[in-house]
Amino acid sequence: MGDKRRVLVISGPNLNLLGHREPEIYGNDTLDDVVGEALQAAESLNLVVSHEQTNSSSRMVEAIHEARGSIDAIIINPGAFTHYAWSIHDALRAFDGPIVEVHLSNPKQREEWRSSSVVAPLASGTIAGFGRHGYRLAILAVSSLLD
Ligand code: DQA
Repeated sequence: MGDKRRVLVISGPNLNLLGHREPEIYGNDTLDDVVGEALQAAESLNLVVSHEQTNSSSRMVEAIHEARGSIDAIIINPGAFTHYAWSIHDALRAFDGPIVEVHLSNPKQREEWRSSSVVAPLASGTIAGFGRHGYRLAILAVSSLLD
């Protein structure tokens, strides 16, 4: 087995309320459930995964800065920051490694203001609309990208 690959998973605002917030859209699972499923998938893929949830865009920018040089790939669900926070875009531009964007819902099927993403132009790909499975699928995607 080669060296472990390090992956940072970042969850944005309001995702701490997962399982309680609009369950008809986001499901009944908590963020711990969803991330737990992803961590389990990572075990057999030689990935070391850390996860951080923040409601603050400045903390999200800092977490991306801290990943520089210490993390091989980023999986990011920026929540509503996705649609307007160009500071997140600029921080990700300074990160040298694959980026996978993930959303539990499919923003393109929802309100018009959710249809654009500041992350999409920088991401290898976007996984959206698969609910609780999205984070696990993003782990599989990152593992293939780092192979
Ligand atoms: C979300 C979609 C965003 O539009 C929304 O603001 C969220 C969650 C998702 O995971 O489906 O907070 O990123």
